[in-house]
Amino acid sequence: MCGIVGYIGDHAAAPYVIEGLKTLEYRGYDSAGIAVLGSKGATIVRSVGRIRDLEAKLPKRLTGKVGIGHTRWATHGPATTDNAHPHTSAGGRIALVHNGIIDNAATLRTKLMAADVAFTSDTDTEVVAHLIARSAADTLEGAVLDALAQITGTYALAVTDSGHPDRIVIARNGSPLIIGVGEKETLIASDAAALVRHTTRVVHLDDGELATVTAGGFHTFDREANDTGREPVEIDLAATDLELTGHEHYMYKEILEQPERAAAVIRGRLDARFATARLNGLNLSPRELRAFRRVKFLGCGSAYYVGQIGAQMIEDLARIPADAEPASEFRYRNPIIEPDTLYVVVSQSGETADTAFAVLEIKRKGGTVIGAVNVVGSTIAREVDGGIYLHAGPEIAVASTKALTNMAMAFGMLALHLGRLHDLSYADGERISNALKAIPEQIQAILDSEPAIAAIAQRVAKAENAFFIGRVRQYPVAREGAQKLKEISYVHAEAYPTSELKHGPLALIDPAMLTVAVVPDDELASRNIAAVEQVRARGGEVVAITHEAVEFGTIAIERIVVPKTEPELDPILLIIPTQLLAYHAALVLGHDVDKPRNLAKSVTVE
Ligand code: F6R
Repeated sequence: MCGIVGYIGDHAAAPYVIEGLKTLEYRGYDSAGIAVLGSKGATIVRSVGRIRDLEAKLPKRLTGKVGIGHTRWATHGPATTDNAHPHTSAGGRIALVHNGIIDNAATLRTKLMAADVAFTSDTDTEVVAHLIARSAADTLEGAVLDALAQITGTYALAVTDSGHPDRIVIARNGSPLIIGVGEKETLIASDAAALVRHTTRVVHLDDGELATVTAGGFHTFDREANDTGREPVEIDLAATDLELTGHEHYMYKEILEQPERAAAVIRGRLDARFATARLNGLNLSPRELRAFRRVKFLGCGSAYYVGQIGAQMIEDLARIPADAEPASEFRYRNPIIEPDTLYVVVSQSGETADTAFAVLEIKRKGGTVIGAVNVVGSTIAREVDGGIYLHAGPEIAVASTKALTNMAMAFGMLALHLGRLHDLSYADGERISNALKAIPEQIQAILDSEPAIAAIAQRVAKAENAFFIGRVRQYPVAREGAQKLKEISYVHAEAYPTSELKHGPLALIDPAMLTVAVVPDDELASRNIAAVEQVRARGGEVVAITHEAVEFGTIAIERIVVPKTEPELDPILLIIPTQLLAYHAALVLGHDVDKPRNLAKSVTVE
């Protein structure tokens, strides 16, 4: 989704801004633009399409040392050059870029038009440029504060003023904004990835906070103009983490990283002495944790499906009632927030607006909410009462893989920890702990069987429709498998609990319908095999993701065999082949695997 980059320093700003925008391409966008302040005011260049199209439009000499840039994902008005940011005030003195949504933009636009202000775009953002330009304040900071007093909504804003060419003023409310402090240069970005090539010393602005950014540093303040005195911190993100390192796609690179990243999420967190997990970041004492009588997971899309896996793990190991719900629906149903429920929000990016609003709803009603979040310092990570960082490293591909695996690993540890606070025995604690330790190697074994999975993906790519089926612990695996296939190969896929097939969907089975059945070696294996038989009897083709010990007899199916772990943890491994199936099917079909159509990496609007 929308991205912001800015530079002020000793060098020409444009190359820094363009490079930063290219780094943010993965988030999804439809148009882009840049404003560079030079001796003759601001040069604004905007373009629909890719950053390279924007780059091609830049004038040869663009030497200004102050610049802001933006990638836009259309919300108000179509993807046109006029609607692309930066937006300017009449005459171009003020230029600004904006992420978020100004809720009262329509009212403000009507008022401004009544005062003869001419608009050049359909965007909500343009009103802010006009409001700043019309402020009577004699500093840019004062003018921005005046404008903010009139707007409601969410924003990350970066503003330049050709009357004050030594600064960029930035403001945050509900949309991330980061300052990167370099040597004689300061950068800004909505995502740390865009500035780590130049510095790892950063300040994450808080909601309601602003900053003046100059070549020599920055000064943070609040909406009442009080100094907030923020200091930079080091972030653990290397520029090389963002490179493709010889791979063709980020998704593939991220799938291959899973053994290493899964080892990272459990490192130092398994306590052999007490056969439990040590999760200090939860900020909850054993007594507080024991008092919870229910656990609810909230996340969106794949994060919600992994939340379902987490809920089942908690019920299995801790015997506490647990469920998962889409965070996008949560606050709209006026949820009952119970003091004895532990809310767990799940998010790779930590910026998903729907999930962030769920956090606010829980907090507003006095609930306890922890996070399972990948991006350190992200909005959700900062809002929650505590949590578990996922240590999956930066995830660039739109389709999430390694972050989901680490969510499931984190929930395995959470369930172990809660279980050991309740009735899970030492022996069972050891059983789960040892199984978690073995998972990275077992993932590697699945990745080693990639050629066989890729061959089966050829068949998947030919399907027009697919069912993914699984039961109980494996139903979320089926949902995630269907989601991954839809997202990147555009093959229509639906997930059903295997047991539900005969209650309706079986009517759709014919030779053109492919079924991917998740059939682990567990107490439901014979029932699952019976369902596979019913599909075969109706001429449907079946790919089974299964364990070595499961016997399908003479039923003709393709088998993808994964290593067995403890039953409670099986979903973690059974999901992995679905990633490779989707990836290879998308390759066969010639799709842009890393940037599927219509999707964005981090969904920062509701
Ligand atoms: C699917 C996918 C999405 C995300 C969802 C939540 O591959 O990536 O369904 O899982 O948009 O995103 P985060 O985890 O960043 O909150």
